[in-house]
Amino acid sequence: MMIEFTADELHHVEALKAKYPDSKAAIMPVLWMAQKKWGWLSEDVMQYVGSVMNLPYAHVKGVATFYTMYFKKPMGKHHVQVCTNVSCMLRGGTEIFQAVKERLGCENNSATADGTFSLEEVECMGACGGAPMIAINETFHENVTMEKVNALLDSLR
Ligand code: FES
Repeated sequence: MMIEFTADELHHVEALKAKYPDSKAAIMPVLWMAQKKWGWLSEDVMQYVGSVMNLPYAHVKGVATFYTMYFKKPMGKHHVQVCTNVSCMLRGGTEIFQAVKERLGCENNSATADGTFSLEEVECMGACGGAPMIAINETFHENVTMEKVNALLDSLR
């Protein structure tokens, strides 16, 4: 697989760099772009991001390693995040996490064998008013019950 941003994406990278007083600060959104494009941050992807950002690989890897939102291994097509922080926990978030884990048959921070789903237990996602909540890729689902979660997972098979 060729690891390269398109011309449009490179324009976007330049625009991001120009947005910050120190262009290095654009590393976070650029890593995010890379993750969206390639699904996860392999060593080759991080090398490439380093080259477009003029940053050493060690720096890129340091940032990617520090933040859990950057995947260091392949995740599923549908990445399921279940919040188990206080507000969600008090309304059943932990049980939902356990049930999803059993249903998918995969561990926290890993993907199902067929690559359809992956699971991540997360800290507060700022949607406490709708606790308990889960997110599937970038879509939030609030006030969920296990029935609603099951229906959602069924619809994504
Ligand atoms: S505690 Fe779950 S979204 Fe805030």
